[in-house]
Amino acid sequence: MVRLRFLGHSAWLIEGERVKLVIDPFITGNPLAPVSADELSVDYVIVTHAHSDHTGDAERIARRCSATIVANNELANFFGFSGLKNHPMHIGGSVSFPDGLFVKLFPAFHGSAIIKNKQVLSLGLPTGVLIGLEGKYIYHAGDTGLFSDMKLVGRRNPVDVALLPIGGNFTMDEVDAATAAEFIHPKYAIPMHYNTFEVIKADPKQFVENLPEDIEGVIINPGEIFELKG
Ligand code: NI
Ligand code: MN
Repeated sequence: MVRLRFLGHSAWLIEGERVKLVIDPFITGNPLAPVSADELSVDYVIVTHAHSDHTGDAERIARRCSATIVANNELANFFGFSGLKNHPMHIGGSVSFPDGLFVKLFPAFHGSAIIKNKQVLSLGLPTGVLIGLEGKYIYHAGDTGLFSDMKLVGRRNPVDVALLPIGGNFTMDEVDAATAAEFIHPKYAIPMHYNTFEVIKADPKQFVENLPEDIEGVIINPGEIFELKG
Protein backbone atom coordinates (compact mmCIF):
# COMPACT_ATOMS: atom_id res chain seq x y z
CA MET A 1 0.00 0.00 0.00
CA VAL A 2 1.18 3.50 -0.81
CA ARG A 3 0.19 6.28 1.59
CA LEU A 4 0.10 9.97 0.72
CA ARG A 5 -0.09 12.34 3.67
CA PHE A 6 -0.88 15.95 2.81
CA LEU A 7 1.37 18.35 4.71
CA GLY A 8 -0.34 21.48 3.37
CA HIS A 9 0.45 23.66 0.34
CA SER A 10 2.30 21.34 -2.12
CA ALA A 11 4.05 19.21 0.48
CA TRP A 12 3.34 15.48 0.58
CA LEU A 13 4.81 12.63 2.58
CA ILE A 14 4.66 9.52 0.38
CA GLU A 15 5.34 6.16 1.97
CA GLY A 16 5.55 2.67 0.53
CA GLU A 17 6.82 -0.54 2.14
CA ARG A 18 10.44 0.17 1.21
CA VAL A 19 10.60 3.86 0.37
CA LYS A 20 9.68 7.04 2.19
CA LEU A 21 9.90 10.43 0.58
CA VAL A 22 8.71 13.96 0.97
CA ILE A 23 8.07 16.27 -1.95
CA ASP A 24 8.19 20.10 -1.79
CA PRO A 25 8.56 20.10 2.01
CA PHE A 26 7.51 23.64 2.86
CA ILE A 27 6.72 23.00 6.53
CA THR A 28 8.29 25.80 8.59
CA GLY A 29 6.25 28.94 7.91
CA ASN A 30 3.47 26.98 6.22
CA PRO A 31 0.36 27.93 8.17
CA LEU A 32 -1.38 24.68 7.16
CA ALA A 33 1.46 22.30 8.08
CA PRO A 34 0.24 19.60 10.51
CA VAL A 35 3.75 18.48 11.52
CA SER A 36 7.14 19.99 12.23
CA ALA A 37 9.97 19.37 9.78
CA ASP A 38 11.84 17.45 12.48
CA GLU A 39 9.13 14.79 12.76
CA LEU A 40 9.61 13.51 9.22
CA SER A 41 11.75 10.48 8.48
CA VAL A 42 12.47 9.98 4.77
CA ASP A 43 14.92 8.48 2.30
CA TYR A 44 14.37 11.10 -0.42
CA VAL A 45 13.43 14.74 -0.66
CA ILE A 46 12.05 15.64 -4.08
CA VAL A 47 11.89 19.33 -4.98
CA THR A 48 9.97 20.52 -8.07
CA HIS A 49 11.51 24.01 -8.33
CA ALA A 50 13.52 26.55 -6.39
CA HIS A 51 10.74 28.76 -4.97
CA SER A 52 10.88 28.95 -1.20
CA ASP A 53 7.34 27.60 -0.74
CA HIS A 54 8.62 24.35 -2.32
CA THR A 55 12.27 24.07 -1.23
CA GLY A 56 11.11 24.91 2.32
CA ASP A 57 12.77 22.56 4.79
CA ALA A 58 14.43 20.39 2.11
CA GLU A 59 17.94 21.08 3.38
CA ARG A 60 17.05 20.61 7.04
CA ILE A 61 15.20 17.33 6.44
CA ALA A 62 17.76 15.92 4.00
CA ARG A 63 20.62 16.68 6.39
CA ARG A 64 18.97 15.15 9.44
CA CYS A 65 17.75 12.04 7.58
CA SER A 66 20.80 11.67 5.29
CA ALA A 67 18.19 11.67 2.55
CA THR A 68 18.93 12.17 -1.14
CA ILE A 69 17.60 15.35 -2.73
CA VAL A 70 16.14 14.68 -6.19
CA ALA A 71 15.65 17.73 -8.37
CA ASN A 72 16.57 19.32 -11.67
CA ASN A 73 20.32 19.49 -12.30
CA GLU A 74 20.87 23.10 -11.23
CA LEU A 75 18.79 22.87 -8.07
CA ALA A 76 20.23 19.48 -7.06
CA ASN A 77 23.78 20.80 -7.50
CA PHE A 78 22.86 23.90 -5.49
CA PHE A 79 21.91 21.64 -2.57
CA GLY A 80 25.12 19.72 -3.19
CA PHE A 81 27.12 22.91 -2.42
CA SER A 82 25.87 22.52 1.16
CA GLY A 83 27.19 18.96 1.30
CA LEU A 84 23.83 17.26 0.83
CA LYS A 85 23.39 13.98 -1.03
CA ASN A 86 21.64 14.69 -4.28
CA HIS A 87 20.55 13.14 -7.53
CA PRO A 88 20.49 15.66 -10.40
CA MET A 89 18.30 14.91 -13.38
CA HIS A 90 16.33 16.82 -15.95
CA ILE A 91 13.11 17.09 -17.88
CA GLY A 92 12.36 13.96 -19.88
CA GLY A 93 14.80 11.93 -17.82
CA SER A 94 13.88 9.17 -15.43
CA VAL A 95 15.68 7.13 -12.81
CA SER A 96 14.95 3.85 -11.05
CA PHE A 97 16.73 3.71 -7.69
CA PRO A 98 17.84 0.31 -6.29
CA ASP A 99 15.11 0.42 -3.62
CA GLY A 100 12.39 0.55 -6.28
CA LEU A 101 11.65 4.28 -6.41
CA PHE A 102 11.06 5.59 -9.95
CA VAL A 103 11.21 9.31 -10.68
CA LYS A 104 10.65 11.04 -14.01
CA LEU A 105 10.70 14.79 -14.55
CA PHE A 106 8.17 16.56 -16.74
CA PRO A 107 7.88 20.20 -17.77
CA ALA A 108 6.06 22.84 -15.77
CA PHE A 109 5.37 26.38 -16.96
CA HIS A 110 6.60 28.49 -14.07
CA GLY A 111 9.85 29.88 -12.61
CA SER A 112 12.66 28.28 -10.62
CA ALA A 113 14.70 31.04 -9.00
CA ILE A 114 15.69 31.97 -5.49
CA ILE A 115 15.17 35.69 -4.84
CA LYS A 116 17.21 37.02 -1.92
CA ASN A 117 18.84 40.35 -1.06
CA LYS A 118 17.60 41.87 -4.35
CA GLN A 119 19.41 39.09 -6.23
CA VAL A 120 17.78 36.52 -8.47
CA LEU A 121 19.52 33.15 -8.59
CA SER A 122 18.01 31.09 -11.37
CA LEU A 123 18.11 27.35 -10.67
CA GLY A 124 17.10 25.48 -13.78
CA LEU A 125 13.64 24.83 -15.09
CA PRO A 126 10.60 24.10 -12.95
CA THR A 127 9.32 20.55 -13.13
CA GLY A 128 6.41 18.25 -12.61
CA VAL A 129 7.37 14.88 -11.16
CA LEU A 130 6.06 11.40 -11.86
CA ILE A 131 6.79 9.15 -8.88
CA GLY A 132 6.48 5.38 -9.17
CA LEU A 133 6.53 2.95 -6.27
CA GLU A 134 4.99 -0.47 -5.75
CA GLY A 135 3.47 -0.31 -9.21
CA LYS A 136 1.59 2.93 -8.45
CA TYR A 137 2.25 6.19 -10.25
CA ILE A 138 1.76 9.57 -8.63
CA TYR A 139 2.11 12.77 -10.63
CA HIS A 140 2.91 15.93 -8.66
CA ALA A 141 2.51 18.84 -11.07
CA GLY A 142 4.66 21.28 -9.08
CA ASP A 143 3.61 24.84 -9.84
CA THR A 144 2.39 25.30 -13.40
CA GLY A 145 -0.15 26.75 -15.73
CA LEU A 146 -2.27 24.49 -17.87
CA PHE A 147 -0.57 23.09 -20.98
CA SER A 148 -1.71 20.45 -23.42
CA ASP A 149 1.45 18.30 -23.22
CA MET A 150 0.17 17.11 -19.85
CA LYS A 151 -1.54 14.57 -22.09
CA LEU A 152 1.87 12.85 -22.37
CA VAL A 153 2.44 12.39 -18.64
CA GLY A 154 0.49 9.14 -18.37
CA ARG A 155 1.27 7.80 -21.82
CA ARG A 156 3.96 5.32 -20.72
CA ASN A 157 2.95 4.98 -17.10
CA PRO A 158 -0.78 5.48 -16.49
CA VAL A 159 -1.23 7.79 -13.53
CA ASP A 160 -3.04 6.61 -10.41
CA VAL A 161 -3.06 9.92 -8.56
CA ALA A 162 -2.54 13.46 -9.89
CA LEU A 163 -1.70 16.16 -7.34
CA LEU A 164 -2.61 19.48 -8.97
CA PRO A 165 -2.26 23.12 -7.92
CA ILE A 166 -5.60 24.95 -7.98
CA GLY A 167 -4.91 28.22 -6.16
CA GLY A 168 -4.59 30.49 -9.20
CA ASN A 169 -2.43 33.65 -9.38
CA PHE A 170 0.87 31.70 -9.60
CA THR A 171 -0.60 28.51 -11.07
CA MET A 172 -3.74 26.98 -12.56
CA ASP A 173 -7.05 27.76 -10.89
CA GLU A 174 -9.78 25.22 -10.08
CA VAL A 175 -11.17 25.10 -13.62
CA ASP A 176 -7.84 24.91 -15.47
CA ALA A 177 -6.67 22.25 -13.00
CA ALA A 178 -9.75 20.17 -13.81
CA THR A 179 -8.80 20.41 -17.49
CA ALA A 180 -5.28 19.32 -16.53
CA ALA A 181 -6.78 16.27 -14.85
CA GLU A 182 -8.73 15.54 -18.04
CA PHE A 183 -5.40 15.61 -19.96
CA ILE A 184 -3.51 13.45 -17.43
CA HIS A 185 -6.42 11.11 -16.87
CA PRO A 186 -5.55 9.72 -13.43
CA LYS A 187 -7.87 7.53 -11.37
CA TYR A 188 -7.83 10.13 -8.59
CA ALA A 189 -7.22 13.88 -8.75
CA ILE A 190 -6.30 15.73 -5.57
CA PRO A 191 -6.07 19.53 -5.29
CA MET A 192 -3.14 21.32 -3.60
CA HIS A 193 -1.44 24.75 -3.50
CA TYR A 194 -4.53 26.65 -2.31
CA ASN A 195 -5.70 28.51 0.82
CA THR A 196 -2.18 28.65 2.27
CA PHE A 197 -2.17 32.40 1.63
CA GLU A 198 -4.89 34.93 0.76
CA VAL A 199 -3.64 35.33 -2.83
CA ILE A 200 -4.21 31.63 -3.60
CA LYS A 201 -7.65 31.25 -2.05
CA ALA A 202 -9.63 28.65 -3.97
CA ASP A 203 -12.58 26.32 -3.66
CA PRO A 204 -11.54 22.65 -3.98
CA LYS A 205 -15.20 21.65 -4.49
CA GLN A 206 -15.25 23.69 -7.68
CA PHE A 207 -12.24 21.70 -8.89
CA VAL A 208 -13.98 18.40 -8.10
CA GLU A 209 -17.23 19.53 -9.79
CA ASN A 210 -15.36 20.36 -13.00
CA LEU A 211 -13.64 16.98 -13.28
CA PRO A 212 -14.71 14.52 -15.99
CA GLU A 213 -17.03 11.84 -14.59
CA ASP A 214 -14.47 9.04 -14.78
CA ILE A 215 -11.92 10.82 -12.59
CA GLU A 216 -12.54 10.76 -8.87
CA GLY A 217 -11.78 14.06 -7.16
CA VAL A 218 -10.57 13.68 -3.59
CA ILE A 219 -10.17 16.60 -1.21
CA ILE A 220 -7.52 15.82 1.40
CA ASN A 221 -7.14 18.22 4.32
CA PRO A 222 -3.67 18.95 5.70
CA GLY A 223 -2.65 16.11 8.00
CA GLU A 224 -4.95 13.57 6.36
CA ILE A 225 -3.76 10.46 4.54
CA PHE A 226 -4.88 9.11 1.18
CA GLU A 227 -4.26 5.38 0.79
CA LEU A 228 -3.64 3.80 -2.59
CA LYS A 229 -4.38 0.12 -2.17
CA GLY A 230 -2.74 -2.48 -4.40
NI1 NI B 1 6.50 28.34 -7.42
MN1 MN C 1 4.37 27.67 -5.15
